[in-house]
Amino acid sequence: MLEIQNLCYSVDNEGSRKDIIKNVSLTLEDNKFYVITGPNGSGKSTMAKLIAGIEKPSSGKIIFDGTDITDMSITDRAKAGISFAFQQPVRFKGITVKDLINLAAGDEKLSTASACEFLSEVGLCARDYINREINASLSGGELKRIEIAVTLARSAKFSLFDEPEAGIDLWSFNNLIKVFEKLHDVTHGSIMIISHQEKIINIADEIILIANGELVKKGTKEEVLPLLTGTQSFSCKYTNE
Ligand SMILES: Nc1ncnc2c1ncn2[C@@H]1O[C@H](COP(=O)(O)OP(=O)(O)OP(=O)(O)O)[C@@H](O)[C@H]1O
Ligand SMILES: [Mg+2]
Repeated sequence: MLEIQNLCYSVDNEGSRKDIIKNVSLTLEDNKFYVITGPNGSGKSTMAKLIAGIEKPSSGKIIFDGTDITDMSITDRAKAGISFAFQQPVRFKGITVKDLINLAAGDEKLSTASACEFLSEVGLCARDYINREINASLSGGELKRIEIAVTLARSAKFSLFDEPEAGIDLWSFNNLIKVFEKLHDVTHGSIMIISHQEKIINIADEIILIANGELVKKGTKEEVLPLLTGTQSFSCKYTNE
């Protein structure tokens, strides 16, 4: 279980304080599928970075399985079972796709066939990609899919995906929905996906709506969807309760 208690994150913006996350408290249960949604710039990626330890909160606490992880490093959080797939994938020079999947799975000797399965899940022809280096020769969509495959291989207790759909073509997107549905059915951990996509929102157990750095609502689709208008990006109107 992940508990976020009174989380605040502020930055110094040209001499004045900018509050990006404003006193957010949330309890996320085990084995549940959550989607965080909200307008651009509302603080979703920042929330994910605070959970993964990439940013440190200004105040508040994050408790994971009863342990206060607020001051823990990214590596220690990863060891504790928190896995993060970035909105903008990272490039690792000199490392191949297979190395990365093996590292993630925690098994150096993972067979090529098993590593390939993760790539096939995200719609990549494994044979073409397994020995490629993670560098600028990969397209944005390819990198993004490799990053999702790596996060799947990690099968962490708590997996965070920041806009997994971003830059992914429609065919792969529909496939990705299936991957997440499957993950939901077999998972032994929690999944948190940051997304603007209704198809992803539809498969969540609970939706977390963030606007302007504040938690607007956490609840079922039926409870949260009426607060959103527009079908594609939900960017039209947000109502604060
Ligand atoms: N270091 C920083 N300095 C100034 N502003 C920042 C900093 N980090 C984040 N912000 C601002 O905080 C806000 C929240 O950013 P964040 O990336 O969390 O948004 P988001 O909800 O993920 O948006 P999107 O849907 O576009 O991905 C934005 O307005 C962003 O410009
Ligand atoms: Mg973001």
